[in-house]
Amino acid sequence: MKKVITYGTFDLLHQGHINLLRRAKELGDWLIVGVTTDNFDLERGKLNTCDNVMDRIEAVRATGLADQIIIEEYRGQKIDDIHKYGVDIFAIGSDWEGYFDYLKEFCQVVYLPRTQGISSTMLREEQAKLRIGIIGTGGIARRFVPESACVNSVAITGAYNPDKAECEAFCSEFGIPLCAASAEELYGSCNAVYVASPHYTHYDYVKSALGAGKHVLCETPLVLEKDQAVELFALAREKGLVLMMAHKTAYCPAFGHLVTLLQSGAIGEIVDIKAATTTITDLGSEKMDSARSGGSMNENACFPLLPIFHLLGTDCRDTFFIARMKGGVDIYTKVIMMFDSASASFEVGLGAKTEGSMVVSGTKGYAYVPAPWWKTDYFELRYEDQNQNKKYFYPFAGEGLRYEIKEFASAAVAQGYFYSKLPEKEIIAMAGIQQAFNAGQNLRILK
Ligand code: CTP
Repeated sequence: MKKVITYGTFDLLHQGHINLLRRAKELGDWLIVGVTTDNFDLERGKLNTCDNVMDRIEAVRATGLADQIIIEEYRGQKIDDIHKYGVDIFAIGSDWEGYFDYLKEFCQVVYLPRTQGISSTMLREEQAKLRIGIIGTGGIARRFVPESACVNSVAITGAYNPDKAECEAFCSEFGIPLCAASAEELYGSCNAVYVASPHYTHYDYVKSALGAGKHVLCETPLVLEKDQAVELFALAREKGLVLMMAHKTAYCPAFGHLVTLLQSGAIGEIVDIKAATTTITDLGSEKMDSARSGGSMNENACFPLLPIFHLLGTDCRDTFFIARMKGGVDIYTKVIMMFDSASASFEVGLGAKTEGSMVVSGTKGYAYVPAPWWKTDYFELRYEDQNQNKKYFYPFAGEGLRYEIKEFASAAVAQGYFYSKLPEKEIIAMAGIQQAFNAGQNLRILK
């Protein structure tokens, strides 16, 4: 029996895929089809797949052309599969011409003609697109624009900054069509808004964008008061819109897997979390300006609070702050939190630096995430018996913003149930902690 194998993502299964499968099947007696997993696609930088792996497998099955379907999970698997299944022919579309010649050592390699005029990319582009207008044109917005180009269903339609000259320079540098004279003009060009303005303006912009019927992705922190966060989420719900916090750590692949591993008991019960996020900043910068809600807690606390609320829940019994101040803002703050059966502590700093790792301690072992843990691409689980230790590696592509943009685009087009990796409850709790600090609750100030 002659065995043929082919691979693909098979997203939004189309006629080109069916033709390819038919041609591959005609080469032999038994066709094996490898369908890539969602994780493998993510790792390959394919962030735009619409159908999940189960749907894509079902679609391939429904063609009736595959005799056997397998999943492709890792680079190099093709060689393993050829040996494992005794494959005679590896077949793939001509867009890959030459790329898989290295498999000729193991079996025959055939490049089949590709069907012209159709592809998953084309179909995805025809689907609902998220047209994003940007408010604020500072450092983070500069990173956002190139990152958004890696997510297929997204286009930047315009930008707004009250400083017209700055906005014009930004739009011309990034080829953004509309340099809006007002937020309202911007809203006319888009169906979603990315708020990247200074913190103290977030509440007003988010409220007006939601009021104008736009989905909103807002930089950290969303707001610095709990009631404002509650109000904005209620407004988003009432309007049937997505309101998401642009927290890159929450959406990157490694952090997601670390959380699910720990939630499934990989280190036993969690007893403590320690994390630090410090980024030395120029004293004259806006981030240090007390009149503009600057300071280390306002700027950085959403980072360590993410693993803490994710893993310990939001029912914090008590929180204590110790801060070193300069010019009316905290340049370094240490925070100690008490939950029912676990403790947590973190440090944030804009004017002092410390080791930026994270340690989650459990009754069976601990997780160690090296600095900078908030750009996680690697972590270790460590145990008393060192033979049990395990290292985990993941991609963290580019600036890492593409992951949150992809989630935002998926949530906005889902129009219904969407599981958020950073739930509303946690964002509200983050604002609560920042509010308590700003109100001076349980705060000790160092001389
Ligand atoms: N294929 C084809 N003709 C097309 C599209 C795809 O023959 N018009 C083939 C590819 O060459 C590959 C297989 O179908 O052998 C699965 O390809 P996949 O990457 O899943 O599909 P694309 O439509 O090319 O997806 P994308 O646009 O995301 O690259």
